[in-house]
Amino acid sequence: MAEIARSTPTSSSSSPLNPHPTARIFPGSRCNLVFAVWSFVGFVLLIHLYTVVTHDKNKGDIYVHSSRVAPTRELEEVEEENFRLPPPRSKRNPRAVKRRGPRRPPTVIDEFLDESSEIHSLFFPDQRTAVVPTQGGNDSMHFYPGRLWLDTDGNPIQAHGGGILYDKATETYYWYGENKDGPTYQAHKNGAARVDIIGVSCYSSKDLWAWTNEGIVLSGDESNVTHDLYKSNVLERPKVIYNDKTSKYVMWMHIDDTNYTKASVGVAVSDSATGPFTYLYSMRPHGFDSRDMTIFKDDDGKAYLIYSSEENSELHVGLLTDNYLDLTREMKRVLVKKHREAPAVFKYEGTYYMITSGCSGWAPNKALAHAALSIMGPWETLGNPCVGGNRIFRLTTFFSQSTFVLPLPGLPGSFIFMADRWNPSELRDSRYVWLPLAIGGVADEPLEYSFGFPLWSRVSIYWHRRWRLPDGWSNA
Ligand SMILES: *[C@@H]1O[C@H](CO)[C@@H](O)[C@H](O)[C@H]1NC(C)=O
Ligand SMILES: *[C@@H]1O[C@H](CO)[C@@H](O)[C@H](O)[C@H]1NC(C)=O
Ligand SMILES: *[C@@H]1O[C@H](CO)[C@@H](O)[C@H](O)[C@H]1NC(C)=O
Repeated sequence: MAEIARSTPTSSSSSPLNPHPTARIFPGSRCNLVFAVWSFVGFVLLIHLYTVVTHDKNKGDIYVHSSRVAPTRELEEVEEENFRLPPPRSKRNPRAVKRRGPRRPPTVIDEFLDESSEIHSLFFPDQRTAVVPTQGGNDSMHFYPGRLWLDTDGNPIQAHGGGILYDKATETYYWYGENKDGPTYQAHKNGAARVDIIGVSCYSSKDLWAWTNEGIVLSGDESNVTHDLYKSNVLERPKVIYNDKTSKYVMWMHIDDTNYTKASVGVAVSDSATGPFTYLYSMRPHGFDSRDMTIFKDDDGKAYLIYSSEENSELHVGLLTDNYLDLTREMKRVLVKKHREAPAVFKYEGTYYMITSGCSGWAPNKALAHAALSIMGPWETLGNPCVGGNRIFRLTTFFSQSTFVLPLPGLPGSFIFMADRWNPSELRDSRYVWLPLAIGGVADEPLEYSFGFPLWSRVSIYWHRRWRLPDGWSNA
């Protein structure tokens, strides 16, 4: 730092604006070149100094004070990550690294996925840094994306690929997700890492930070090999919505067999948010294959199933029946040939938004935001919503995959982006990445709309190592 401060004035005092007129007469004058080089060095040092200062400023906690003007402003501050990734163990020869140039994201992702690598523990820190809701102190109410997150009993939360339901009657949030608390194995050579179906967990909370385990509300089946929920099958991405007309809680989920050839959706129903849910049936929606999916309940009470179809090459949006237990025939194909999965749908000021991931198994990849004026489409792609961290963070959705976006009732335009940081070597130890998401500003894409209508708003997901919700987030 001190060295930079000393050399900066020297270089900036040598004006780049033609300090030596005669130099121009002699093309390639060494003098001119020296000035140019020093000016450039000065410029680079200034930029560097600025980055260092900015970084230091952001190093501290992101604590959101209640400010009447913009309670969410600090959530939108850019927080950079500058940790150094160790070189891959097999290629520690610095000359070889130099020859190959900077390492590419796939290498980092491979290292991230390899449980024996050094950087694996950076992204899956152990229980010493766990978020413990029963402990007060500085960390109270703070989210730490990627850290172990314990429930109020002190056990790691098991709610992967999950979603959240706000129950108006009890003013309580319910978080449903896959309980993956069993051994990870491969069903056969070349098969994807998996755990047996244990069931769908439910957790309850009033503050979105301290979660109480409400138990398994839909269990896997231990003995009936023909049952959809038989343990060797697949149950993923459960989502629950409430039907105001029937007063039932309805769960939709991805149902599959070990090899992902069944490609169906399952439906379950309960009288209570905390279950138990009764499993009804599975089907191929509109006759199509269906893998990653979500459910969206609109303001008018209509609900929709959004699912990856045609071998994950496109998404389909289908209207549910009034009781939410089945699909109507109304369906539209959207984002055709875009190959997106892990959809998370939300709405703001009459516009529908969706975050999706690419399709690369358990490995993380780049998120995209999409927008539409009708949920049935057409859907436009707005670009990568990830802001901050570093380039690799932004290209990997902060090493995670979207699962749900939760509106914050007291802060219109602000949401919590929920994602899974999958750990395929130990799936039960997959982590949660919750980050603030905001809608505002002009979207990066699509450029062809730059002349007219519609002018989409930007969707931004801001990286924070540590953050908390601003006061007033829950006041509707
Ligand atoms: C709480 O924060 C203060 C100031 O940042 C720090 O000195 C202290 O060690 C922290 N306490 C805990 C338990 O982390
Ligand atoms: C096993 O599951 C199938 C399919 O759900 C069902 O038809 C059958 O009755 C079940 N058998 C037993 C013994 O529960
Ligand atoms: C899944 O695929 C493997 C390898 O192709 C095969 O051995 C196995 O029988 C298949 N299982 C099912 C349930 O289809």
